Amino acid sequence: MASVTPASERAATTTEFEASADPIGLFGRWFDEAKVSETELPEAVALATSGGDALPDVRMVLMKSFDERGFVFYTNLGSQKALELGQNSRAALCFHWKSLTRQVRVQGIVEEVSKEEADAYFATRSKQSQIGAWASKQSHPLEGRFDLETQVVKYTAKYALKKVDRPPFWSGYRVVPLRIEFWRQGAFRLHERRVFMRDDARQPGWKCKRLYP
Ligand SMILES: Cc1cc2nc3c(=O)[nH]c(=O)nc-3n(C[C@H](O)[C@H](O)[C@H](O)COP(=O)(O)O)c2cc1C
Repeated sequence: MASVTPASERAATTTEFEASADPIGLFGRWFDEAKVSETELPEAVALATSGGDALPDVRMVLMKSFDERGFVFYTNLGSQKALELGQNSRAALCFHWKSLTRQVRVQGIVEEVSKEEADAYFATRSKQSQIGAWASKQSHPLEGRFDLETQVVKYTAKYALKKVDRPPFWSGYRVVPLRIEFWRQGAFRLHERRVFMRDDARQPGWKCKRLYP
């Protein structure tokens, strides 16, 4: 059965939803609510890319941070998504928080995070995950599971007694937003949509408009 946000809750958030001129602040408040109400991975987000062949490709990633500069995820720089982003730096994200019946869509330009930022995040991962990053040639053909496990054993031995360095082929991307759309479910499919737009990420301020559901 489809759930609709209760009237009392809607009243409390309506003013903010309608009045906010700051999409990053609004995103932050929605994300805080999602962290409370989603049972699994509120930071999970669909990432859409398209490379030189213009064929859209989409997969889930985890958004590890966000701020005024954009939304950051981490991955293997030899992966299919990285290949596509190298050919076309335009990408889109789509968050869906089922428990809140809300969606946020982002379109923007992707750039690599700094080495320092990637190092700092890599250092927070568990040692097994750090070794996993070394062991996986993400998106490349794998003959059998044994080959992956052999790589894990190799890097586990290599780093048994020392700190795991960030692999040079593993880093983060920031989606610098040019358009952010907030959607929340309304009764009888009369949903509410607000979209924030800007032509250039270097300029402050956003234009905002509402869209029919
Ligand atoms: C919930 C979820 C979160 C994921 N998070 C990441 C992630 O943060 N980074 C990543 O590289 N892959 C992540 N994956 C795996 C990707 O969806 C994908 O399989 C992988 O990155 C290879 O994609 P590609 O071949 O298009 O590069 C996640 C998958 C799921 C289901």
